[in-house]
Amino acid sequence: MAERIVILTGAGLSAESGVPTFRDKDGVWAKYDYRDVATPEGFARDPALVHAFYNMRRRAHAGIQPNAAHAALARLERAYPGEVWVVTQNVDALHEAAGTKNLIHMHGELFGALCTHCGARFPWSGDMSLETRCPGCGKAGGMRPDVVWFGEMPYQMERIGELLAAADLFISIGTSGNVYPAAGFVAEARAAGAHTVELNLEPSEGRLMFAEAMHGAATVIVPAYVNRLLQWV
Ligand code: APR
Repeated sequence: MAERIVILTGAGLSAESGVPTFRDKDGVWAKYDYRDVATPEGFARDPALVHAFYNMRRRAHAGIQPNAAHAALARLERAYPGEVWVVTQNVDALHEAAGTKNLIHMHGELFGALCTHCGARFPWSGDMSLETRCPGCGKAGGMRPDVVWFGEMPYQMERIGELLAAADLFISIGTSGNVYPAAGFVAEARAAGAHTVELNLEPSEGRLMFAEAMHGAATVIVPAYVNRLLQWV
């Protein structure tokens, strides 16, 4: 039985909740150029476009619910005798809504705001613009979504490295394995001696790094895999 389970999740986990993925044929990057809406350079060039992009995503996320895969991961954390951690690339709040507690948002949170003037962070569910004033310092022109853009350092990387170094089981769910550093976590887990599993709709870029794989819809294969893990406890 594994003592510590570390789970990396990506957009495929939230797909069946109605959240578009990024690189599937009808994904976000088929409609928007990430350089315009998900880089510091794009924000400096046209902040109104970036704010409109995230305002649209906040509104689109407002009514969504966690699916059976999110629920299975929360059940695993509750029922498993060892430690279970979720490191998510997703900026939605579906893991929290399903009840997961041990959670790291390495790419930040769509429902979070950051003031670039004073560095303060706030929960944020409404729209944001250049005119939005920081609730902390009161200045306008500096509020941005608290999400990690391409070229920026993901959050809590040191803590994630510690978790991977001590992992007995590493499970990657719903991610294409295109974006580093997340795509490199499987190699770190293997180096630590962990068993590595990919649960994805189809084989990912990093398919060859995993010792085991199940392919199919997350709402089917994630509960099935969690049931297998819990049957031994
Ligand atoms: N069930 C399981 N897997 C699915 C499902 C589903 N219902 N639908 C799609 N997938 C898989 C796809 O096959 C793909 O491998 O989920 C993966 C989604 O890949 P991406 O769209 O690249 O999303 P992700 O890997 O999370 O992207 C990583 O890139 O754009 C940045 O910051 C953004 O966090 C994001 C990062």
